[in-house]
Amino acid sequence: MVTMEYTDCWLLYKEISDTNKSSLLIFSSMEGKIIQNAIQELTTAFRILYNREVTLINEEADFKEKSCGFIMKANSSIGKEGYCIDCKEGNCTITSADEVGILYGVFDLIRTLITMHVEDVDTWTYRQEKVPACAIRMLNHWDNMDGSIERGYSGNSFFFQENDVLVNERTKAYVRLIASVGINAVVINNVNVKGAATELISSRYYTNLRQLSELFTSYGVKLYVSINFASPMELGGLDTADPCEENVRSWWSKKAEEIWANVPDLGGFLVKADSEGRPGPFNYGRTHADGANMLADAVKPYGGLIIWRCFVYNCMQDWRDTKTDRAKAGFDHFKPLDGQFVDNVILQIKNGPMDFQVREPVSPLFGSLKKTNMILEVQIAQEYTGQQRHVCYLIPWFKEILGFNTYCDTNQGTVRDIISGRTYGNKNCGMVAVANTGNDANWTGHDLAAANLYGFGRLAFDTELTAEQIAIEWITQTFGNNKTVEETILKILMMSWPTYEKYTAPLGIGWMVKPNDHYGPDVDGYEYDRWGTYHRADHKAIGVDRTENGTGYCCQYNKPLDSIYSNPNTCPEELLLFFHHVEYASVLSSGKTVLQHIYDTHFEGANEAEQFYEMWKSLQGSMNEDAYERTKARFSHQRDHAKEWCDVINSYFYRKTGVDDLQGRKIY
Ligand code: GCU
Repeated sequence: MVTMEYTDCWLLYKEISDTNKSSLLIFSSMEGKIIQNAIQELTTAFRILYNREVTLINEEADFKEKSCGFIMKANSSIGKEGYCIDCKEGNCTITSADEVGILYGVFDLIRTLITMHVEDVDTWTYRQEKVPACAIRMLNHWDNMDGSIERGYSGNSFFFQENDVLVNERTKAYVRLIASVGINAVVINNVNVKGAATELISSRYYTNLRQLSELFTSYGVKLYVSINFASPMELGGLDTADPCEENVRSWWSKKAEEIWANVPDLGGFLVKADSEGRPGPFNYGRTHADGANMLADAVKPYGGLIIWRCFVYNCMQDWRDTKTDRAKAGFDHFKPLDGQFVDNVILQIKNGPMDFQVREPVSPLFGSLKKTNMILEVQIAQEYTGQQRHVCYLIPWFKEILGFNTYCDTNQGTVRDIISGRTYGNKNCGMVAVANTGNDANWTGHDLAAANLYGFGRLAFDTELTAEQIAIEWITQTFGNNKTVEETILKILMMSWPTYEKYTAPLGIGWMVKPNDHYGPDVDGYEYDRWGTYHRADHKAIGVDRTENGTGYCCQYNKPLDSIYSNPNTCPEELLLFFHHVEYASVLSSGKTVLQHIYDTHFEGANEAEQFYEMWKSLQGSMNEDAYERTKARFSHQRDHAKEWCDVINSYFYRKTGVDDLQGRKIY
């Protein structure tokens, strides 16, 4: 197979200095595949960054007094996958309780040398201690076996091609990239498991899955696969997939035994059940606890985990029905099951109650499940946030979500506390992102979208980092050490999510996108459809009443959030239309009416997108020409498409209301 060219993304090393060419020694008291890769990473980096060779020695005693280099040692007092780095006078000691901690220490060292532009390693002093904030730091790829990617915006899959599993140089480059930011779990196939994908857990694929999992394991990454709940029927020929039927349970037990015998490093299964047409326990009148626990029992002997998605709602709603509320579904289905899931089940909960909109409240499930493992699901594939044609740096948004106080506990009630396991003492929890990669040469379609991949990993590892710190790290590693480039790109990234929000759906209402591909404005695209995604706009007012007089969604939050959201005067304005049906003439804290706010933010957002294009053009000549040109083309599209959004939305409301823009700007 011909592997396409691809970039090294943020692992693209460039020489920092070559004044001291003496070689360095390296000694490791630990052994194993991951350690070998850690040594290899250090060797590669030092060769390029400093033109220095790194020589492996077998005895620590050979590390003579005057020689410089690296010592890697075990230290069981450091937390799981954590590390400690101590560098002074040319000697760096990296310690960890496990092999992967050493690898993370090595990547920290390399990253820090680059971002701090350290010229003289031999006199450098650096100390760092880190333990990952989340135990599970996962990516979900929505890749299909034919090589296409559901909601993929960067080419085709590099995991699958014509129903084959690929393991090659590109897969290796991928795992290096993600391990460098601390990702430790990957689901390679789409959550919608049908057709050929159902067979991924059959003998045809074991050899390749095993190779892939061994490659992953050598970088500390666990391989997971999405499975079809109806596999006992579709693969096994049974006439049911009822989780309470003995023959179904034993089919899964045998299946698990067979899979782990062939792919011993497998991490477990991800399951989308009873959701958007996928089969699940509801088909048999069973609960999601019945379904998840049955699978969990099957995989338990092999240390496997079952990651069970909570994206369960009625996608056949009648738009005339104003009481049924898709936002309420996750809580309604899963809150009653709290405490019923066995230990190796983890519920995967989308950040908001709808579906990765540019703005949503935090899912009330986080504040309500107390005896259940939870993992927070975000989407770096920019399905609703510009599809990697618009720039939209999502880390500031994820920071807000992590910092959200659910009021489930007086001291440790933020989402960050809950998913780090602090609040309830669970060990199986963390963060997962729907991945934004594909086989495009630059991995993520838009060069700047790589900041979301990088940032997600860094944030899951260290939830205390700021969005700005992460952006700066990524920029300097990707574009080198140039102040103007750094400042310009930082400004664009930090403005990008608010800008995108300004020119798309206003005040938390969401959607307003073209049906199916979800790209571009169509205010009523989903208004009279079955998906439970309505804005309820008429000539006087817009928004969904989710108070107790409306759908009652507000009541799913803990005190005092329920009353804060219920009252339009205390509801955060950016979510006003999510929670309330509000007249266009209502006045916001800015003194503007809702309608004028919509007009203003849309013009502002479109204007900012135009500025991005100009800002990018100012960088011509200060980076790789190809990267500059392909990104410029994206900014030019974004500028035009933002104007389209602005004009469509403003015209829609102008036509509904007949009320002029106070500034008399052109509306159609
Ligand atoms: C969204 C998305 C689907 C996806 C689903 C999911 O609805 O549009 O393509 O399958 O989310 O998260 O399962």
